[in-house]
Amino acid sequence: MKRLAWALALPLALACHRAATPSASAAVSARPSMYEQQIGKQVFHHYCSGCHGDGGQGDGFNAYNLDPHPRDLSDPKFQKSKSNADLADAIRRGGSGVGLSALMPPWGHTLDARQIDAVVVYIRTLKK
Ligand code: HEC
Repeated sequence: MKRLAWALALPLALACHRAATPSASAAVSARPSMYEQQIGKQVFHHYCSGCHGDGGQGDGFNAYNLDPHPRDLSDPKFQKSKSNADLADAIRRGGSGVGLSALMPPWGHTLDARQIDAVVVYIRTLKK
């Protein structure tokens, strides 16, 4: 009897495991990973914070030479007004590509698509 219970329990456990695996990984890929966030942080600190400031508030050492100043990327109102695609587009094509100031350089030749996605993820974490 005991052996029969095991014989039934094992395939059941395996079936549950198998059923649980795809949905678990889908949930992970829908949310950005810490790894992606970390790449975005590095990209941001390397290429962007000189103008945008470490926290994205538009207070980098170079911001005072820029007219207009970079806006506060951490402002919740700004964050809400732009989709991830808007942000990625401005980053890829630069200010002149999307009707903003040409002082925002285009990054599409420097950063690959993955780095741009990652830096967008990081900008989302800067929201106040
Ligand atoms: C040389 C200074 C400079 C650097 C470096 C720079 N930016 Fe900008 N960025 C600007 C300025 C100035 C604006 C504002 C343009 C405007 O409002 O007309 C801007 C605008 C933006 C916007 C669009 C904001 C909006 O209003 O939609 C995003 C997003 C952005 N920058 C992200 C980045 C990222 C990510 C990097 C690094 C890969 C970066 N910037 C590097 C100067 C810079």
